[in-house]
Amino acid sequence: MARGSRKVAIIGAGNVGATCAFVLAERKIGEIVLLDIFEGFAKGKALDMSQGGKILNYDGKIIGTKDYADIAGSEVVIVTSGFPRQPGMSREDLIGKNAEIVSQVGEGIKKYAPESIIIMVTNPLDLMTYHMQKVTGFSHKKVIGQAGILDSARMTHFVADALGCSNEDVQAMVLGGHGDTMVPLPRYTTVGGIPITQLLSREEIEAISTRTANGGGEIVKLLERGSAFYAPGSAAAIMAESVLNDRRRLLPCSAYLNGEYGMEDVYIGVPIILGKNGVEEIIQLDLKEIEINKLQNSGSFYKEQLQSILQY
Ligand code: LAC
Repeated sequence: MARGSRKVAIIGAGNVGATCAFVLAERKIGEIVLLDIFEGFAKGKALDMSQGGKILNYDGKIIGTKDYADIAGSEVVIVTSGFPRQPGMSREDLIGKNAEIVSQVGEGIKKYAPESIIIMVTNPLDLMTYHMQKVTGFSHKKVIGQAGILDSARMTHFVADALGCSNEDVQAMVLGGHGDTMVPLPRYTTVGGIPITQLLSREEIEAISTRTANGGGEIVKLLERGSAFYAPGSAAAIMAESVLNDRRRLLPCSAYLNGEYGMEDVYIGVPIILGKNGVEEIIQLDLKEIEINKLQNSGSFYKEQLQSILQY
């Protein structure tokens, strides 16, 4: 990643936001603004990270703030604010608390960074991405959700583990909403170009798909307080990098569907080309009936839930 003078704002200096900032700093992406309602929290983490620059050889500017005016000029705004899941909760249980927060954050972005591309991380991811687009009125292409990269990385890890091979050669594809209805696609998951359907048994693949779909919950249960952050924060950073450097990477992300995959007016995970304009293209895979049914079920689930965010 080349170092530029570009500016990225990260809203929410919690575990996910701070991890994302650290990954961007370490990759020398440019100026980073870490914003949190708890100013000291954002400033403290920004200062700590700035001091770490000497050790890891990065020196971009990193500032902490609670003032939205400081995000002005940001090319990308990553939104991580909100409450994480606790054991026993589904991501959808967070709708009430987090939709209100997203409304406030959205107003700040609209006012101070109206040209930015927004990457959402707040859960329930697909619903909060939809909500953010409504609040800001930004083009759908400029409001995108992080989830597919994380879910695919989880599947990759399980496949590499099962085969005892490097995860570098594994390419996994997980589509659909970021929740229990997500759709791991074994046919599109390969190791060195070979579909896993030729390398693992049906039972092994089934177990990997199930563990992937429960991937976030497994970590929530282990942590007992809060949810995963290393992989989610890194995934958001990688999306920002693809936008800032116009890399046009093909990544599964939560994008707005307007007829694609037979669905309308809903955000869910699909493969996209991610570049400087946000969603440059939605890639339409030739799915089998059982696969498209699962994807549409996932879309319907989130569409039904959209009613519950209208009041925020
Ligand atoms: C997860 C949460 C962050 O999947 O959604 O870990």
